[in-house]
Amino acid sequence: MRVLTGIQPSGDLHIGNYFGSIRQMVEAQKTSETFAFIANYHAMSSGNGGEKLAQLTMQTATDFLSLGIDPEKSTFWVQSDVKEVLELYWILSAFTPMGLLERAHSYKDKTAKGISANHSLFSYPVLMAADILLFSPEIIPVGKDQIQHVEIARDIATKFNNEYGDILTIPEFRIQEEVQTVPGIDGQKMSKSYGNTVNIFGEEKKQLKTIKKIVTEQVALEESKEFENCNVYNMAKLFLNESELVKLQNRYTQGGEGHGHFKLYLADVMWEYYKPFREQREYYLNNQGEVREILKMGAAKAKAKATPMMEKIREVTGILY
Ligand code: ADP
Ligand code: TRP
Repeated sequence: MRVLTGIQPSGDLHIGNYFGSIRQMVEAQKTSETFAFIANYHAMSSGNGGEKLAQLTMQTATDFLSLGIDPEKSTFWVQSDVKEVLELYWILSAFTPMGLLERAHSYKDKTAKGISANHSLFSYPVLMAADILLFSPEIIPVGKDQIQHVEIARDIATKFNNEYGDILTIPEFRIQEEVQTVPGIDGQKMSKSYGNTVNIFGEEKKQLKTIKKIVTEQVALEESKEFENCNVYNMAKLFLNESELVKLQNRYTQGGEGHGHFKLYLADVMWEYYKPFREQREYYLNNQGEVREILKMGAAKAKAKATPMMEKIREVTGILY
């Protein structure tokens, strides 16, 4: 089974990214052939660029390696190191009806929020389809918000195959049921663009400050509290095993403790959970040259897969090379 995912280097990674995507990828390394890349071209579509983009690309790569992406097991690279993806993007755009892109939620949501649209934001799903189809993966692990993009890739691949035969593998998305959408500190979907994230890496004091801002209902200390819809509980449960979860549920229902206590507990649990990853990150931060080398090695492995695929595609589409 071949599994592929990409992540934009558009800010600090948060626990929604981790539970919605990164952890699945790390798990998949045990059983599948895994492909993971930093989508730096994609990040440009929302206005990232210049020195900041270069810095965030390295930071995101560093964080991925620290969180368990193993360059021996996975093909791990930066999107822009494998230029074939841009050629395929153009070819696929000839198989992409305008209506398909006009219906894309990510584009509609961003424009509705007043973010002025440029062409890269509009054609974003076509580049994402190229990222996927170039490597023939069967499975794309993503959060709920990316399902439609994988469906667009399927539609484009089907159109292409109808014209030229069974060349492109039709991919399927995979979401982890229990962590479809990780809530942010305001209870909305956690997202960099909503400024409601709890980041994976950061200073302990700053993280506690963020966790203290999580919105909760007002209930007197001695009263029983609901845990099902509590944002603190819904974050904490991501880090807990069954028995720890039951204990926390009991603390909610028996009363005597306030949300402030549960927030402190969440901060502790999270800090412990990411401890080994922080240590690993320290190493990579001190060895950025090694990170760049790892990415280049990954790009060479990715290119070895992309080259024959592009040759086949150029041949059938009549693009001389
Ligand atoms: P953001 O919304 O913060 O910009 P991205 O769009 O870069 O995050 O998402 C990167 C990956 O993390 C995607 O696979 C996405 O579906 C997943 N993801 C992001 N936020 C969440 C969330 N709140 N819950 C679950 N998965 C998420
Ligand atoms: N659009 C994805 C996101 O914002 C990132 C991405 C780009 C991606 N290309 C991909 C994810 C290919 C999976 C497969 O999260």
